[in-house]
Amino acid sequence: MRVALPPPALRRWFRHATALAIFVLMVYLSARILRALSGCRPGAQSCTPEGPLPLQVQHKSGLLGAAGWEEPQCLGPQGMLGRMTRSFRDSLKPKGDVELSQYLAGWRELVRFLTPLGSAVAFAASEAFMKVTALEARVQGPDAAHYTSLATMAPWERRAGLLEPPGTAPGAPAQASGSRTLLLLHRALRWSQLCLHRVATGTLGGPDAGAQCGDAYRTALAPHHPWLIRQAARLAFLALPSRDRLLELACPAAGEADARAALARAAGILEQVYNRTQDLLARHGLLQLA
Ligand SMILES: *[C@@H]1O[C@H](CO)[C@@H](O)[C@H](O)[C@H]1NC(C)=O
Repeated sequence: MRVALPPPALRRWFRHATALAIFVLMVYLSARILRALSGCRPGAQSCTPEGPLPLQVQHKSGLLGAAGWEEPQCLGPQGMLGRMTRSFRDSLKPKGDVELSQYLAGWRELVRFLTPLGSAVAFAASEAFMKVTALEARVQGPDAAHYTSLATMAPWERRAGLLEPPGTAPGAPAQASGSRTLLLLHRALRWSQLCLHRVATGTLGGPDAGAQCGDAYRTALAPHHPWLIRQAARLAFLALPSRDRLLELACPAAGEADARAALARAAGILEQVYNRTQDLLARHGLLQLA
């Protein structure tokens, strides 16, 4: 059957479609141009610097956890990086599991860190914040006993039918589960970890933070995002502050070498949490939930 659109509606539709196509093309082209300017060829596997680390970072990284390195204040009890790493580290108890309340407390600090990094990252951070709040509501809700850790949550949500694909479980709200929320946070944690690690260890004169965090995005999140979001994200990362500014935000009033070492330590803890969570999600068959 043919549906005849009235001419004014058709014209409006055309105008909107054309405007959208031009916008998408511009976003796409400027992303490619800026990427090329920033030294990361599109299609290249990675624009992680291959050169050696600055000597000071190598030196300090070797000392991480060892006696002799005086921690900068940002890793202390008052520092944001310190609060974040402690919460995430505490989420690794009990052995082999991830405790949800500490994991979410760590995420709250991570969101606080990401929010000043420009409007587009702030948007992503606010998305993450909503997920943190949603999962916290379960952790503190009437079913709190089942939401102490990932290993208690997953089997319970499976028994409760919350992990069925949408449409197969009548009455269950489509895809709303703590496990799915956690999976989305987990992928974003991977991006944060790669981004912080690369900012901490990037060579002087190598790609700047924006290129490195954009590259981390391509690894960790882009495979799960639609095309338009990917293009918008690329632009957002090019507007990221410089490495120096990021180091200053992460570790105010510390020297560059100390700030890099502190950030590298934080990224190391995030990696431990990521690895543990990845392992658990795989074991419970939850990696395909979203
Ligand atoms: C995380 O897992 C990867 C891959 O299995 C491994 O190479 C890396 O050393 C692990 N990192 C930590 C901090 O455990």
